[in-house]
Amino acid sequence: MTEFPEGARIVRHGAVDSTSERAFAELAVGNARHMDVHVATEQTHGRGRHGRVWRSPAGEGLYASFVLLPERPWNGAALTIALGLAALDAVSALGLTRAALKWPNDVVVDGAKLAGVLAETRDLDPRRPAYVAGVGIDVRQTMFPAELVAERPVTSLALCGIAASVEDVLRALVRAVAERTARIESDIGTLERDFLRAAGLERGRVRAEVAAGPILGTLIAFAVESGLRIRTDAGMESRFALEHVRALTSIE
Ligand code: BTN
Repeated sequence: MTEFPEGARIVRHGAVDSTSERAFAELAVGNARHMDVHVATEQTHGRGRHGRVWRSPAGEGLYASFVLLPERPWNGAALTIALGLAALDAVSALGLTRAALKWPNDVVVDGAKLAGVLAETRDLDPRRPAYVAGVGIDVRQTMFPAELVAERPVTSLALCGIAASVEDVLRALVRAVAERTARIESDIGTLERDFLRAAGLERGRVRAEVAAGPILGTLIAFAVESGLRIRTDAGMESRFALEHVRALTSIE
């Protein structure tokens, strides 16, 4: 186990099912601390959002799961945004300044996915809230399997010209997660503003996908507490809680 300056305890694994499963297992037996970070060289059952598989070949990517134990429960959208920004900050700190965020928290480069975040909680006890934030970042891949590329465009730091090691990425990510999650309670406005900028949603028209279908219009407000407000092209105002927004893109 290594200690990082941010107070993070790095729990290193070889090949595991999923670093998030390892984090939940330590939580279940009462061994977990805030900012424990489970890192593996390889995952055999890496999990993505919406039940997808997160491909996790040995030594190619960063597979890290953070245990987060705040004093009070966090707003889910705030955690989602903070983690996406942390992943973006980490790759930016390594020199990749043209990456962006795609709702809710994919890191993309020219539309190709570089990193993803899966924030989870199980049997949340509001008196002792516990979250596991899993972050996967493609680092050294120079090729991807055809079936993955057929599903969606993907990239890696190496393919973007950034010659970082997995350990470099881990260090940058730990710093960024500590900084961004600290703002969830103290400075949500910065997270909201930085998210809009990182996702290219600061001005102009947007397209939001919600259960009822796509909504096109001008973004009037974006806030963790009050949600999304859009003036539709038909001149109506629509409001949605952020957890009901499936996709959100600029259409300028
Ligand atoms: C996504 O679908 O975009 C989220 C991907 C999250 C992958 C990471 S890798 C570390 C952690 N362990 C998992 O099984 N998943 C997350």
